[in-house]
Amino acid sequence: MSTGSPAPAADVAAPGAFLHIVGARPNFVKAAPVVAALERRGAEQSVLHTGQHYDDRMSAVFFRDLGLPRPDADLGVGSGTHAEQTAALMVGLEKEFTERRPGTVVVYGDVNSTVAAALVAAKLGVPVAHVEAGLRSFDMTMPEEVNRRVTDQLSDLCFATSPEAVGHLAAEGVPVGRVHLVGNPMIDTLLANLDRFDTGALRERTGLPESYVAATLHRPANVDRPETVARLVAAVHEVADGIDVVMPVHPRGRAAFAAAGLGDHPRVHLLEPLGYIDFVALVRGGSAVVTDSGGVQEETTILGVPCLTLRPNTERPVTITHGTNRLVSEAELPELPGLVAKAAAEAPAERAVPPLWDGRAGERIASVLCGEVGDH
Ligand code: UD1
Ligand code: UDP
Repeated sequence: MSTGSPAPAADVAAPGAFLHIVGARPNFVKAAPVVAALERRGAEQSVLHTGQHYDDRMSAVFFRDLGLPRPDADLGVGSGTHAEQTAALMVGLEKEFTERRPGTVVVYGDVNSTVAAALVAAKLGVPVAHVEAGLRSFDMTMPEEVNRRVTDQLSDLCFATSPEAVGHLAAEGVPVGRVHLVGNPMIDTLLANLDRFDTGALRERTGLPESYVAATLHRPANVDRPETVARLVAAVHEVADGIDVVMPVHPRGRAAFAAAGLGDHPRVHLLEPLGYIDFVALVRGGSAVVTDSGGVQEETTILGVPCLTLRPNTERPVTITHGTNRLVSEAELPELPGLVAKAAAEAPAERAVPPLWDGRAGERIASVLCGEVGDH
């Protein structure tokens, strides 16, 4: 299993230090503001990359774009079935935690690296802090939902992005003292980089059309079954009859979309996965976004770009109640071209920003981690 992320540095975390576990694309975006806020406090910390994502465009580009410190180690676990990947993660992480004796392990989001780290740390008696705790889709067919539930039960500190998430944790019996509503670190990263998202410059560099819909799809429920992929391709081609579609393709769906002829439409522009700054520039300049990404639902809410989420549910309902998000189920796919046209034509509506999505989540998390405050 290969890894293309930055080469490890030599330092070893001291006992008592914070050890951040990152492994997959969305983790890097969430970790950056927490690492920066701890850095500002002079906290001892290090970053451990599991190697779950390893292509330069899925991993190293985020360290460059976001100024994240070079990981102290890269486990290089790579891809596999859930059991293969989670087992490799656990074996590698157990060795690292035993040698490094971190004071607290900080995990992010809901990927396999997250749950593996939480499980290993809990068994070794190392406190776990979970950033982005309490999100629930109530859809146990999603691997992420399994990961979220297990991680939250094992976490000593649960950092929630929304009041709904706090409610879910309470309903599952997580003691209230463990839970902190802190806002959304992914939005910290977005707001901190707003000046860098330059759609015009991206257009000049890549020849983007003047008006377009940005698309991303990678959820197993959408990209793993050929019948579903064929239906999605038909829907995207119909959208492209009316407006150009620009889609950076996640490696998970690459082969299936190619086999189904996604790129065969002259107004469908397929790209490699983009680095963070280029991708958000693409989203920001889009007339609308078609996605199944968790993070993109949140980013479009703040950017004010209409978002059509090709899923039957979302663990981020605040992006619907406060933001620009609308769910589109598989049964509604034939309506997608009309929904895109309508979203693209609508003037931006008055929206409320979700509570505490103000660019200060990393600060709040660091202040709890460092024992500066008890609650928010
Ligand atoms: C993972 C997360 C998902 C998250 C997504 C973000 C789990 C269970 N899933 O899904 O929650 O939304 O990351 O992008 O943790 N691959 C490459 N190069 C890479 C990485 C992956 O080619 O750098 C390909 C491999 O064929 C691999 C497939 O993508 O089998 C899936 O990768 P994996 O990490 O298992 O899950 P994702 O679908 O990326
Ligand atoms: N993203 C990116 N390049 C892309 C697609 C997404 O930088 O080509 C960013 C996106 O802006 C967000 C994060 O990656 O910050 C979301 O990751 P992804 O969609 O892979 O995972 P999810 O959020 O669904 O778990």
